[in-house]
Amino acid sequence: FRTLDDADVTGKRVLLRVDFNLPMKDGRVTDATRIDRALPTIKELSDKGARVILLAHFGRPKGKPNAEMTLAPIAPVLSERLGRPVGFADDCIGTVAAGIVEVLKDGDVVLLENTRFHAGEEANEAEFCESLASLGDLYVNDAFSAAHRAHASTEGLAHHLPSYAGRTMQAEIEALQKGLESPEPPVLAIVGGSKVSTKIDVLTNLIDRVDILVIGGGMANTFLAAKGIDVGKSLCEHDLGDTARSIMTRAEEKGCEIVLPVDVVLARGLRSGAPTETVPVEETPEDMMILDAGPKSLEMVKQRMDGAKTLVWNGPLGAFETEPFDVATMGAAHHAAELSRAGRLVSIAGGGDTVAALNQAGVSEDFTYISTAGGAFLEWMEGKALPGVEVLKE
Ligand code: 3PG
Repeated sequence: FRTLDDADVTGKRVLLRVDFNLPMKDGRVTDATRIDRALPTIKELSDKGARVILLAHFGRPKGKPNAEMTLAPIAPVLSERLGRPVGFADDCIGTVAAGIVEVLKDGDVVLLENTRFHAGEEANEAEFCESLASLGDLYVNDAFSAAHRAHASTEGLAHHLPSYAGRTMQAEIEALQKGLESPEPPVLAIVGGSKVSTKIDVLTNLIDRVDILVIGGGMANTFLAAKGIDVGKSLCEHDLGDTARSIMTRAEEKGCEIVLPVDVVLARGLRSGAPTETVPVEETPEDMMILDAGPKSLEMVKQRMDGAKTLVWNGPLGAFETEPFDVATMGAAHHAAELSRAGRLVSIAGGGDTVAALNQAGVSEDFTYISTAGGAFLEWMEGKALPGVEVLKE
């Protein structure tokens, strides 16, 4: 794919797709990570004298303007973090957008209103693509986290304008290549979180690609139950027993080791400071809930990390938001960070909960790469081609 190294942007109108679908509360940005991820590309383009026109979506307004999903509050936050003025147009096509774009000077930055206020965005309509394309000379996509959507601003535009990957997109693609496409073996994957049902395709793809698969969090309970272990009142998708068993059988055929908890931390309910008991997993009483992996299980995970060269991680090992059920997740995060700092492990993590857990552990800086993508990261772990990435390769 082509990057900004291949583009001559000076004096050009550059349509830059970013992902500003970020956590907001009462019209205020509560986590600006995705804005910060977009800064290098915006700065580079602006410094090179491009007229930067930002395209982004927010929420799911179903093709109609919706005051609760306006991008307007994001422009001042972006401006502050960028350290330069950022204009705002309250429509992404039509005369309003064209008028603002027309008066842009080299180096200026403007944000256009939510692309999803038009039905043509998600439908990837040619007419809507043409309206967007008429505003620019070049198209740069820096929104890896929206690349699983074949929408006008994430895919369609690339068919209408010369297209390039932005710096964040480039870094993300390169990091993910190191993670699963051409990783240094042995490869260890950790998949956690509450439900197996949302990650069946992830697990199925991973057992073909990795050497060791650690299954943690609530979803481990489904696997334990499928092996005949009584998990008491724990979160468990009992109807997925056959799925879990067939994943384990296939892993065995493929020579992928599956690691499940051998001991667990129990409580009567999920609440902060609840009294806990730590027991071998087979001794879970029928009236208790598994809320974290125990110390022996954590040791096993650390030991597998020691032997691995590459780690791909999505999903926590326990209910880490509630103390004291954060111990296994924090312990694994610190250990991975230590190995990464020592240059012994390429560590790649992604997904909202995982990013939150690594931030909580204070180790985000130590990982090789942390993806802010949620759905796109999962689809990548499922081995699916992402339309927004594929189109840049054409
Ligand atoms: C995300 O937040 O995962 C992306 O911005 C995609 O948003 P969507 O799931 O509404 O398409």
